[in-house]
Amino acid sequence: MTAPLKASDTTVVNVALDDRAYDIVIGRDVLTSLGTRIAALRPGARTAIVTDKTVARHWLEPTEASLATAGIATARIIVDEGEGSKTYAGLEKVSEALIAARIERNDLVIALGGGVVGDLAGFAAAILRRGVDFVQVPTSLLAQVDSSVGGKTGINSPQGKNLLGAFHQPVLVIADTAVLDTLSPRQFRAGYAEVAKYGVLGDEAFFAWLESNHSEAFKGGAAREHAIATSCRAKAAIVARDERENGDRALLNLGHTFGHALEAATGFSDRLFHGEGVAIGMVLAAEFSASLGMISQGEAARVARHLAEVGLPTKLQDIAGFAQEGLADADALMTLMAQDKKVRRGKLTFILLEAVGRAAIVKDVDPKRVRDFLQSKLKA
Ligand SMILES: NC(=O)c1ccc[n+]([C@@H]2O[C@H](COP(=O)([O-])OP(=O)(O)OC[C@H]3O[C@@H](n4cnc5c(N)ncnc54)[C@H](O)[C@@H]3O)[C@@H](O)[C@H]2O)c1
Ligand SMILES: [Zn+2]
Repeated sequence: MTAPLKASDTTVVNVALDDRAYDIVIGRDVLTSLGTRIAALRPGARTAIVTDKTVARHWLEPTEASLATAGIATARIIVDEGEGSKTYAGLEKVSEALIAARIERNDLVIALGGGVVGDLAGFAAAILRRGVDFVQVPTSLLAQVDSSVGGKTGINSPQGKNLLGAFHQPVLVIADTAVLDTLSPRQFRAGYAEVAKYGVLGDEAFFAWLESNHSEAFKGGAAREHAIATSCRAKAAIVARDERENGDRALLNLGHTFGHALEAATGFSDRLFHGEGVAIGMVLAAEFSASLGMISQGEAARVARHLAEVGLPTKLQDIAGFAQEGLADADALMTLMAQDKKVRRGKLTFILLEAVGRAAIVKDVDPKRVRDFLQSKLKA
């Protein structure tokens, strides 16, 4: 992906959480400011960078150079890329390396990578010496607009994703939009589903802007920065209102109940990236909302049209190998949805749409209606 080499303004979004408030710094080449920002925030701190092999190849040296220029000592901890590192074994490896690097209470852990590295390094920081601060340097689009903001950290259990973790807010987030130039187009697209999600769930004007400007955002430059900054502002506002997901924060799960079931049905494999599951899930949530009379069919079609236009999957049939497996089975999908964290005593909670740009938390959704809806989609 090429991007114009144009200097752009830096945007700072504050996450207003009282004594745990922090800045998200967004812009092209802001990674170069990491060292000076850390020196100002935590004079004399030592650091350890946790990253994965792929990200290390592209971005570890510039990160270390920025720290060195500011006179900050750092160690490097490199894990394998992918979900396989968000495990007990991955946590043990990172934790032991942090202890060996003599990272103490006033030092900093730096998570340089996508959501896997951010969740893993953030959780290791949360439990190291009962809590060491950390800095997020998200390198995937998904991490820049979603996982690096909000303080959810954790690893997977063999029994399910993200079942072990802690709320641990970072002290700084550096989202350098230029690092996304080395991300694969498919990963970028998957992250874009979460960008579009912010429009669909709470900001019709932003969704309309994306409909007109998405190709510029994919190319890079000012439109990309605007898309990322708007997404971060939306997430920051929701997190500041409801840090621990007792209410509004659940809106961010738009598309995720259906999406997680599809990810589980495909074994959390490369057949369906998280963002791709969210794209299909968001379309299903919109169509289900239409089937309940909450929005028009036209509004649901508008959501699907935009996601399809950027090349995201929008229907069950778009998933590779769809026909061969349990995926084409409404009851199997219902079982997977029932295992989701958003289920209480047999009733499903869904994030549905009252309009494009206005989502609502709907509790006590009758599973039979969901099943009938899925059945109709499987035949479509
Ligand atoms: N904590 C949260 O609030 C939250 C929210 C959403 C998702 N998540 C978690 O995030 C994870 C998914 O994150 P992800 O999609 O970033 O996955 P990821 O971290 O696995 O990154 C995807 C792939 O892109 C590569 N990559 C990352 N940045 C790159 C770059 N700049 N150039 C080249 N390659 C790069 C990685 O090496 C990896 O292979 C999941 O584990 C999910 O559970 C957490
Ligand atoms: Zn998501």
